[in-house]
Amino acid sequence: MAGKYFIKTYGCQMNEYDSSRMGDVLEAEYGMTPTDDPQQAQVILFNTCSVREKAQEKVFTDLGWIREYKQANPDVVVGVGGCVASQEGEAIVKRARYVDVVFGPQTLHRLPELIEQRRRTGRAAVDITFPEIEKFDSLPPARVEGASAFVSIMEGCSKYCTFCVVPYTRGEEVSRPLLDVLADITDLAQRGVKEVTLLGQNVNAYRGAMHGLAGEGLAGEGMEGAGAFADFALLLELVNDIDGIERIRYTTSHPREMTQRLIDAYATCPKLVSHLHLPVQSGSDRILAAMKRGHTAMEYKSIIRRLRKVRPDICLSSDFIVGFPGETGADFEATMRLIEELDFDQSFSFIYSRRPGTPAAELQDDTPHELKVERLMRLQAQIQTQADRINTAMVGTVQRALVEAPAKKDPNELAARTDNNRVVNFAVPHGLARDRLMHNFVELRITHAYPHSLRGELVLRA
Ligand code: SAM
Ligand code: F3S
Repeated sequence: MAGKYFIKTYGCQMNEYDSSRMGDVLEAEYGMTPTDDPQQAQVILFNTCSVREKAQEKVFTDLGWIREYKQANPDVVVGVGGCVASQEGEAIVKRARYVDVVFGPQTLHRLPELIEQRRRTGRAAVDITFPEIEKFDSLPPARVEGASAFVSIMEGCSKYCTFCVVPYTRGEEVSRPLLDVLADITDLAQRGVKEVTLLGQNVNAYRGAMHGLAGEGLAGEGMEGAGAFADFALLLELVNDIDGIERIRYTTSHPREMTQRLIDAYATCPKLVSHLHLPVQSGSDRILAAMKRGHTAMEYKSIIRRLRKVRPDICLSSDFIVGFPGETGADFEATMRLIEELDFDQSFSFIYSRRPGTPAAELQDDTPHELKVERLMRLQAQIQTQADRINTAMVGTVQRALVEAPAKKDPNELAARTDNNRVVNFAVPHGLARDRLMHNFVELRITHAYPHSLRGELVLRA
């Protein structure tokens, strides 16, 4: 089956990564190529998200759009993957009968088998099991575009925060063996990658088997056993030693596993960026306990204090949930105080969304919706004020940045990303070939700060 595929992605970076791997599978198996137009596609996939109700409902609306097209083109394969698929399974086919394949985040590598099964049996093929590490072993090598790459190092989540569906949709934490991860990154570096983002639902829960035989001694057994497992700090140190890799990012991490060893890695690993995304959700201990986060606001502050000792310039971003059941005005003010005190720079912040099947879904929720919206607006405005201040303080400084692409507004210019995740647009000086700058690190003097980007000029060294 040659032709084109269309993938619509909902939700987080994990899903973005999974979608690119679905593309890799279709390209390797059928030689298919991507398209942005579903009406040109022979395979149409929806990679879904169920973290909040809105994202979940959107999938069914979008599936409705595709219905007529599928009826007119019965040979087109329509698939639903991701977390909604994992939660709903067969129910998706019941609700949308024209869906051909349903697969979970851990079975996306079986897509060709599922498509074949659908052809053979004439019935929808559903596989939402968790075969754990098998996915990593059976995926084709990732495509490299530019100088940045995502590398998945672990999957799933075993934290069971009371509001969250992820442990149920993606399964428990499973880490890839250490040598597999290092081999992937070395290979990427040899193909020109300079920046890696280590990816997982809780990357700092990483426990990678040290023997390198894929599939054996999987995670969850801890560090015991005479050092048979590598922790995340050790992984960072080893990635820091890989020639060609110049910048290391990771996402997402959990405060509970922000160990002293990991904080110390900020001293020993210069390639690790001075930017950390560490979800806190709330600044109120009462709410943190009800969320079952496993830490207090004070413990979170202590992590940041120790980190800033090692890296005084570190920029901090976080996830916040506003309006968790029972959140009082005082709880919300505690969150606002934490935001100001720690000077968060960017955030993913949302109103709590009740997720059926999670423990928090049973809790009484009396806070009026308008009040939640008001709180969210205040929180976001405060973080934007802080981000603006950090942007302004960057004016006049020289920043190392990785050139990613032509600038969005003016394609004659280039856009580069700083360590602290700012996009800087700059003009290419006369006589300098753009190609020499593209996908390389440059030094930029920041000249202007705008709310969502910076402007700079190239610093040329003699
Ligand atoms: N591993 C991360 C951590 O340490 O919390 C979070 C991963 S989670 C998939 C991404 C974010 O989605 C969470 O940090 C949380 O803010 C948000 N989220 C999850 N469930 C939610 C819900 N029921 N309502 C609103 N936001 C939710
Ligand atoms: Fe969800 Fe909490 Fe895990 S937010 S992904 S259960 S750390």
